Amino acid sequence: MTSRVIPVAPFVLVVFGATGDLARRKLLPALFQRDLAGQLPAEANILGVSRGPLTEDAYIDIARHAVLEYVPAKERTEQDVERFLARIGYLSADADSDGGWDALAAKLAPFQNRINVFYLATGPALFGPLCERLGRHGLAGENARVVVEKPIGKNLASAHAVNDAIGAVFPEDRVYRIDHYLGKEAVQNLMALRFANGLFEPLWNAAHIDHVQITVAESLGVEGRAGYYDTAGALRDMVQNHILQLLCLVAMEPPAQLDADAVRDEKLKVLRALKPIADALSTHSVVRGQYRAGASAGGAVPGYLDELGADTSITETFVALKAEILNWRWAGVPFYLRTGKRLAERVSEIVIAFRPVPHSVFEPAAGPIEANRLVIRLQPHEGVKLWLMTKDPGPGGMRLRSVPLDMSFATAFQVRNPDAYERLVLDVVRGNQTLFMRRDEVEAAWTWIEPILEAWSNSNELPKPYTAGTWGPSAAIALIERDGRTWLDGGT
Ligand code: BG6
Repeated sequence: MTSRVIPVAPFVLVVFGATGDLARRKLLPALFQRDLAGQLPAEANILGVSRGPLTEDAYIDIARHAVLEYVPAKERTEQDVERFLARIGYLSADADSDGGWDALAAKLAPFQNRINVFYLATGPALFGPLCERLGRHGLAGENARVVVEKPIGKNLASAHAVNDAIGAVFPEDRVYRIDHYLGKEAVQNLMALRFANGLFEPLWNAAHIDHVQITVAESLGVEGRAGYYDTAGALRDMVQNHILQLLCLVAMEPPAQLDADAVRDEKLKVLRALKPIADALSTHSVVRGQYRAGASAGGAVPGYLDELGADTSITETFVALKAEILNWRWAGVPFYLRTGKRLAERVSEIVIAFRPVPHSVFEPAAGPIEANRLVIRLQPHEGVKLWLMTKDPGPGGMRLRSVPLDMSFATAFQVRNPDAYERLVLDVVRGNQTLFMRRDEVEAAWTWIEPILEAWSNSNELPKPYTAGTWGPSAAIALIERDGRTWLDGGT
């Protein structure tokens, strides 16, 4: 099957932080792929901006290396790469001074009728100053859109401040806050699964669902990002945004239409219905951990403190928690959430665990009846499995076995799975905000997270140690087993 390509309108994309990791690893390769797919019109240009006094040729060389490094060789020819690079320009400008801004305004003047996307691939401290300068130099007009990445603040107050600074220049309908999890194919498929199938909706509530698990496990450590990571931790880095967004997509009511505000209104209701976690220090509600040296993918790996180069740190690299949504649909259904670095494997999945049958008509010899579960695998090996009880084939009487109806996306569709940024960057050009976080969503998520952060910062307790390559501290296993349930680790 081939994917469908709808070309977008002419645009110029200005990337601030153009030499940084995000631009090189994600944005340039994503744009290259869309160019390759024929989705970029001839009038689509990319302008890299950073502080460094680079020549245009030097930047184009950086972009070439990015494409060669992050796009598999079998997916590109030299001609493709050169055609893409011909779209790229470079300018040096500084958020903290006037240097370069007149030149930027002059460069963009001929493109005022096109869509102007300003992608702030920088730290959040620069979001306000960059927006302010864009406004001052007349670059924030009707055709201009601004894109920012998490972290949007470190807590509710700082998120307000960042959002105020952006909002002083750009109205909300031209602000695109990226949560790249929303651009993942399997995450969008969650909407198709829930709202394009009549089968699930009647069962999608507390009467039929026992609990939900959301796991985003990584096998890598903090790599070269320990400096940033130590100021964030797993709760801010993953739960406040990616995991709560996943929870919203599972739990929200069907929106009336698929337009941006209808979807975001429904997600916001879920965030506002989350039961506040009153005692974040109790391991019955929240468990935080930090990895020690161990083994991963067959090799020995250092602990977090070694990677950080410090003797001590209170930053969590793992968190598991039990959330509840106080509304009619979900009352009494726990949502167990967990994420961590250096876990046993890289796997992100959502498990919808249905309630068991009320009564067994089978003899004990048939074996236990496992409750049905629907597993949505986000990565790797994206797909959906619905576990059903079936009769073990052949003679020997009625013996029951749990077997999945298994739909792997790779086999079902046989298309390359596009990176989230391919979809998201072009959605900005299209003016579609459905997969971006609205200001009130971000702030509602912080409102729920903040009491946990406060409880931790007022306590002397350290995160619980876990060995790299395991599923986290044993207290995280107890968190769910205490309720008579169990984490369904990978391979579900
Ligand atoms: C980022 C976090 O938002 O998501 C990283 O800052 C994390 O710490 C990453 O590794 C995970 O994204 P993915 O797409 O690899 O699951």
